[in-house]
Amino acid sequence: VAKQAVNEKGHLLIGGIDSVELAKTYGTPLFVYDLSLIRERARGFINTFKELNVQAQVAYASKAFSSVAMYQVMKQENLSLDVVSAGELYTAIKAGYPVDRIHFHGNNKSKEELLLAIEHNIGCIVVDNFYEIELLKNLAAEHDKQVNILLRVTPGVEAHTHDYITTGQQDSKFGFDLLNGQADRAFQDVYKDKRIHLLGLHCHIGSQIFETIGFKVAAEKLIKKMIAWHNDFNFQCTVLNLGGGFGIKYTEEDTPLEPSVYVKEMVIVVKDLVAETNFAMPEIWIEPGRSLVGDAGTSLYTIGSEKEVPDVRKYLAVDGGMSDNIRPALYGALYDAVIANKMNKESKEEYTIAGKCCESGDKLIEHITLPKADPGDILAMFCTGAYGYSMASNYNRLARPAVVFVEKGNQQLAIRRETLEDLVHLDLPLTLEKE
Ligand code: LLP
Repeated sequence: VAKQAVNEKGHLLIGGIDSVELAKTYGTPLFVYDLSLIRERARGFINTFKELNVQAQVAYASKAFSSVAMYQVMKQENLSLDVVSAGELYTAIKAGYPVDRIHFHGNNKSKEELLLAIEHNIGCIVVDNFYEIELLKNLAAEHDKQVNILLRVTPGVEAHTHDYITTGQQDSKFGFDLLNGQADRAFQDVYKDKRIHLLGLHCHIGSQIFETIGFKVAAEKLIKKMIAWHNDFNFQCTVLNLGGGFGIKYTEEDTPLEPSVYVKEMVIVVKDLVAETNFAMPEIWIEPGRSLVGDAGTSLYTIGSEKEVPDVRKYLAVDGGMSDNIRPALYGALYDAVIANKMNKESKEEYTIAGKCCESGDKLIEHITLPKADPGDILAMFCTGAYGYSMASNYNRLARPAVVFVEKGNQQLAIRRETLEDLVHLDLPLTLEKE
């Protein structure tokens, strides 16, 4: 969306590298991440907490994009890590992530997943429901382990965003309801436990949020609950985790605030409420995903066929689609794009960018004005770093793209492209006889 860097050939530069060359080297579709942007965002969050003089952990919500190399970037930046499955946890362990900074989420963690987490002594398990409390107690006893937990609560806050990605409102599959006594019951279940150590509360009110009000209301509700438990049971919670969800600018219409603003405003709410009590200021934890990696990612596609529907539109088809970015089809998500090899050409053609999947709904961008396109041109679609690759599928048996990291003129492959052989490597031949 912002003004793009362009070289003398009129090619888009990403991280100081000619994107057309990247497409040639690694093929398309290709995800390109500019690491310097990720580092800048990570440091921004960490420095904001430093300026506020508040103990904090900034955990990368790795569902946005996970890979061994990305976990290693986050480790370099001293972030903590939010994982939501044995798969993400295993990847983090493979990446050498410090286990004490891994937080494990999920509304239906299996016994095997919890065991993997306990065996590796991970930093904290964010407990979602009563069934999980029982599982954890039994596992901790069976394996004679100590476990740190947060209780995830739904604070009943409506975050103004797309319905599918709102999680803090009262009708949610996630967490203990804060308003109807569920959270208090969960607290009673765990706060005296010898093996389960309650650190505090967690909430996540939604994703791609622009306003601060939801975060402030959630912060207020959670800290008040923690103060009440302190008053009533003399129990000091030490951690308040306010989740992620800070919005980013996909198109000109999007109006997110600086990430630091969300943090500052919620910390002020907590500080003010704590100041009136003898409750000790808790550590503040957050879990940004999209705002760390979203705008650092660009998808490169090769343009192929074109079809005109007279008086309606011109379709321009690319060599990927909903299989590598399901967000437009699933949420009606909007994106901006350019033709990476025609940055100096005037944009005067209106196109719909279609994918190559066998579905009419496989459109990546509905209306975009670009220079006149030709087969072989490279389309660069911006801000695809979050929930693009991580939600990719093999629909139509398309191979998942490669992922490349660039930074200040350097480059490396982070995930290799799937091959046709990869696509059949789980398949077994038919052994049942024909009747
Ligand atoms: N913490 C928890 C508990 C979450 O559930 C999520 C996202 C995050 C943190 C990170 O949220 P972020 O900062 O990335 O907004 N697939 C959807 C987004 C789903 C978000 C799920 N939870 C999309 O493509 O928009």
